[in-house]
Amino acid sequence: MRNGNQRTARLAPYPFAAVNKARDEAKKAGMDVIDMGVGNPDLRPDQSITDFLKSALDEAERQNHRYPPYDGIMEFREAIADYYKTRFGVTVDPGPEVLPLIGSKEGIAKFFLSHMDPGDVAMVTSPCYPAYIGAVAISDGTLYDLPLYEQNEFRPDLKSIPSDVLDKATAILINYPNNPTGAVETRELYQEVLELAQRHDLIVVSDIAYAELNLEPSYRAMSFLELPGAKERSIEFHSFSKTYSMAGWRLGFVVGNEAIVQNILKIKTNMDFGIFMAMQRTGAYVLKAGDSLIQPTREIYAKRRDAVVEGFERIGIRATNPLATIYVWAAIPEKYKSSMEFATGVLKKTGVVFAPGAGFGTYGEGYIRVSLIEDVERIKEAIARIEQSGLL
Ligand SMILES: Cc1ncc(COP(=O)(O)O)c(C=O)c1O
Repeated sequence: MRNGNQRTARLAPYPFAAVNKARDEAKKAGMDVIDMGVGNPDLRPDQSITDFLKSALDEAERQNHRYPPYDGIMEFREAIADYYKTRFGVTVDPGPEVLPLIGSKEGIAKFFLSHMDPGDVAMVTSPCYPAYIGAVAISDGTLYDLPLYEQNEFRPDLKSIPSDVLDKATAILINYPNNPTGAVETRELYQEVLELAQRHDLIVVSDIAYAELNLEPSYRAMSFLELPGAKERSIEFHSFSKTYSMAGWRLGFVVGNEAIVQNILKIKTNMDFGIFMAMQRTGAYVLKAGDSLIQPTREIYAKRRDAVVEGFERIGIRATNPLATIYVWAAIPEKYKSSMEFATGVLKKTGVVFAPGAGFGTYGEGYIRVSLIEDVERIKEAIARIEQSGLL
């Protein structure tokens, strides 16, 4: 019997599956596990969101259960377009330039599926959200890592890209606020990315899954589409998962260049049927309600970030102090050869789960990522355990 194909052979196992497996084994062995591995929010959505879904279920009872339109319901698409207008001052047409997604992860994979031919290169910042690496592998494309170095505040040096890579490149993917480093964008960087894309006829894929999770009022993320001319060659992905603690709902969207969005839709139309309509209506409610639903979440994550950053500083682990996201990116102690060795050691000895940096691609080695998905008391407990473990 055939075992998979060249595509599955190209795909490495999803790194977080291994993190979860190690966590579950530690739990099974009776350990009190403090899980700060995968970015899976422990908070629950605002009560008004679940209430809205319940009423949406009743209201359009018969209609709800039918297949939704392939390109999403207009009420949701209009709410997305209104959000872009109000939040970023960006105009997108809720018809062809907006597409609801079953979480942004599926849209990202379908972007690469619909835009990469054999030999095409996708330039992706590294370290990165691991699904990008898998998504390029699922497509016919080839990945080129754009290194994000700490000394460059985890922003890529576009001048260092070799010309033969640029010749073959079809797309450049950027993600700010950044998973896993917590770094944020600058307008200058975005401008440089756009100019590079214009010179080399590239598509720009911007992923702003954490745009609303600024942990300081002094910083507000921008949209790549704010740059004049960006929409001619760019799309932007968005997610409800972290902002509204709705990861399991699978709700996201993509906006931007019509041709690119419509090619993603072409793949989707042949592979899925979109999102349950009552959930799309709830999505529209959430976007309209906006900031009041997010502010308490920001405050919780900011306190957790402070607990990790202060705790790590005290025990001598060098870490970022992110302005946004739900992650702290920290250097492993020098005596460890790899992030896997350190993360495994910490888990076995203390029951604390961190995600090893190597899981985020080539340039993630040497670091661990801490997800802020435990409350402040548990974070303090985790740091105390590591301090007393003799591992440092
Ligand atoms: C940068 C980034 N983009 C996209 C996603 C996927 O989000 P969704 O749940 O909408 O598929 C994640 C999830 O961790 C992420 O970190």
